[in-house]
Amino acid sequence: MNISNRITDLFGIKHPVIGAGMVWASGWRLASAVSNCGGLGLIGAGSMKPELLKEHIQKCRAASLNSFGVNIPLLRGDAEELIRTCIDEGVKIVFTSAGSPAKFINLFKDNGITVVHVVANVKQGLKAESAGCSAVVGEGVEAGGHNGADEITTFCLIPQLADKLSIPVIAAGGIADGRGIMAALALGAEGVQIGTAFAATAESSASGIYKEKICAAEDTGTDLIFKKIGLVRMIKNRLSGEAIKLEAEGAGTETLKELLGSKRERMGIFEGNFDEGMMEAGQGAGLVKEIMSVEKLFAKFINEFDAARSKAINY
Ligand SMILES: Cc1cc2nc3c(=O)[nH]c(=O)nc-3n(C[C@H](O)[C@H](O)[C@H](O)COP(=O)(O)O)c2cc1C
Repeated sequence: MNISNRITDLFGIKHPVIGAGMVWASGWRLASAVSNCGGLGLIGAGSMKPELLKEHIQKCRAASLNSFGVNIPLLRGDAEELIRTCIDEGVKIVFTSAGSPAKFINLFKDNGITVVHVVANVKQGLKAESAGCSAVVGEGVEAGGHNGADEITTFCLIPQLADKLSIPVIAAGGIADGRGIMAALALGAEGVQIGTAFAATAESSASGIYKEKICAAEDTGTDLIFKKIGLVRMIKNRLSGEAIKLEAEGAGTETLKELLGSKRERMGIFEGNFDEGMMEAGQGAGLVKEIMSVEKLFAKFINEFDAARSKAINY
């Protein structure tokens, strides 16, 4: 891609492409594969206990030629333990999400860790900047997994974040090919974080059935559910249909929480239980047609990016 900017400098990477931290999908195999292709791979600690995270960090380090990081959803009760595991293991890049990074910023800084926070509106972006984060991921509502309550699209969120923040912005949500990477940079992002497309690669630890469902999904293949208890975008299935029906009937938070339960992500993403699980995926699933290696996907991204850039020069 031949891009050098604040994001490639911050992480010491060749391409401004971050492999998202994803529960049940981005373990050491996926994270190290992304890093070895010149991007920044993230281990998704959201589905790991500290001991397992330690194992993944050690395996990722052994398999990685380049830097990698860890994603920690801060709403987890044991978030601090996960952070301390990163410190003990010498991790230097942490992406935080689902909570406020301010509480932990000194702990990160004192241990030489670069912190990037995931935000879904400008106010959250400004807060992350003033807390001391080095960059933000601006995640639009197209994204797979948990989404911001304001439902702002990537196309609208990124330029507004880029206008208001001094720190660099990484775009996420709906980016699943090289054209999307090019568009995100045109909107003012200096990097992209890609989830769904990497979740469907050979190196992802998601189940084969999950990957096949992503490849089979069309533009309308996802549902956005659970507005009252925490928005989630996932592949349409029996569960999402049931949630939409209950929401339309005005179900309260208790009923919805009961339907959600506690194991739906594992069931859907890791165990491949299509009817009962939550197969978190973004609207970009419609662009993913084949399970391929991370290396092949990167080559595809670079070709598409270069083609989109050449085309744009002629406008
Ligand atoms: C299967 C799956 C699991 C995810 N798990 C997490 C997570 O644990 N923490 C997090 O911050 N974001 C999580 N996300 C969101 C991604 O980090 C990323 O921001 C998002 O997937 C980008 O949008 P895209 O799916 O359109 O590429 C997840 C997304 C998917 C598809």
